[in-house]
Amino acid sequence: MQPPSSLESLIPALPEDITKLAYETFQQGKSLFSLGHKNISTRLAKMFVPRQTKDIKRLSSEALLKLQEKRSQLLEKDWQDARAGVYPVSVLFDNPWEDFFRYYPEIWLDLTQIWQRSQKKEYQTFAPEIDREGYPKYYLQNFHYQTDGYLSDMSANLYDLQVEIVFSGAADAMRRRILAPLKAGLQNTSQKSVKVLDIACGTGRTLRFIRATLPKASLYGVDLSTAYLRKANQSLSEIPGELPQLAKANGEELPYLDDCFDAVTSVFLFHELPPQARQQVINEAFRVTKPGGMFIICDSIQSGDAPEFETIMHNFSIQYHEPYYKNYTKDNLVERLEQAGFENIQIENHFASKYWIARKP
Ligand SMILES: C[S@@+](CC[C@H](N)C(=O)[O-])C[C@H]1O[C@@H](n2cnc3c(N)ncnc32)[C@H](O)[C@@H]1O
Repeated sequence: MQPPSSLESLIPALPEDITKLAYETFQQGKSLFSLGHKNISTRLAKMFVPRQTKDIKRLSSEALLKLQEKRSQLLEKDWQDARAGVYPVSVLFDNPWEDFFRYYPEIWLDLTQIWQRSQKKEYQTFAPEIDREGYPKYYLQNFHYQTDGYLSDMSANLYDLQVEIVFSGAADAMRRRILAPLKAGLQNTSQKSVKVLDIACGTGRTLRFIRATLPKASLYGVDLSTAYLRKANQSLSEIPGELPQLAKANGEELPYLDDCFDAVTSVFLFHELPPQARQQVINEAFRVTKPGGMFIICDSIQSGDAPEFETIMHNFSIQYHEPYYKNYTKDNLVERLEQAGFENIQIENHFASKYWIARKP
């Protein structure tokens, strides 16, 4: 992975307690920073676009405490997995620092455009030079009111910073929850021959973590956004090991042969798909997975999973343009996975995310 090289060489030499403290402090810093950011941007939104914020509900103090507890549990699991060698401890400190310093101011500069779009309820505005040919209709949206949706370099540069802020600095820790079941599920396969596909790989955060966990595996990623794939390619070429093969493709029509991958993963995609596309991506994941292989989905927690998240789920669909989120929170993905042919489906919840770990018979 790619923390500053001095840190990377320092970590194995540090006593465990100090490394853990450093990780907790790092996470605490990200959390406080995100809270500060959200606090100021919400206050500004209340001043400038009051109508857009009037339906946002306040979290009760009990819910806040519970959320903090669940966040701590997630971080403890992250630490324990690294300590147990599922992935290197240095991964815990992996952070796109250069992007942070370079692009963080743009998040503030973009805010007025985001407010304007949300005020005018404009969800499909793209810069004139952006080619919109060949994408599914559901995809051509300003998800999160994002400028240019997923279709510009600017969007790709800001995306990881924005997601970390939304999840109070815990987005990467939630992505890493797929790694232990992934590694355990592949333990009987020689790592050199393992092939893993990440559907909707975005800027490549999950592939970075899979690379650290399975250094010898052949990795593949698909996404519909050329800009995000370019960003992923940049980020993934910084780390040692074979470069993952990235392709522009719709998860509903994967450009691979049947029974090709030992494992398929997908992180934070399903809440952005309409129901029929969700089923089609699952069907495609089934088709390209080898018999005995696995499919792991990580996405938002769903309605009924944890009462303390109900207000957050309600606010999320108001604050961010997420047209399929409400439907997603009530969708039964176990049924969809079974319909495709998967079996032995395990479910896990960690902080704000839910995981489906399924086997192809
Ligand atoms: C919320 S982002 C998640 C990205 C990444 N997996 C992560 O962990 O941050 C959703 C991603 O899904 C991609 N996407 C949406 N619909 C898709 C589809 N039908 N096929 C492939 N990629 C898709 C978008 O371009 C975007 O990169």
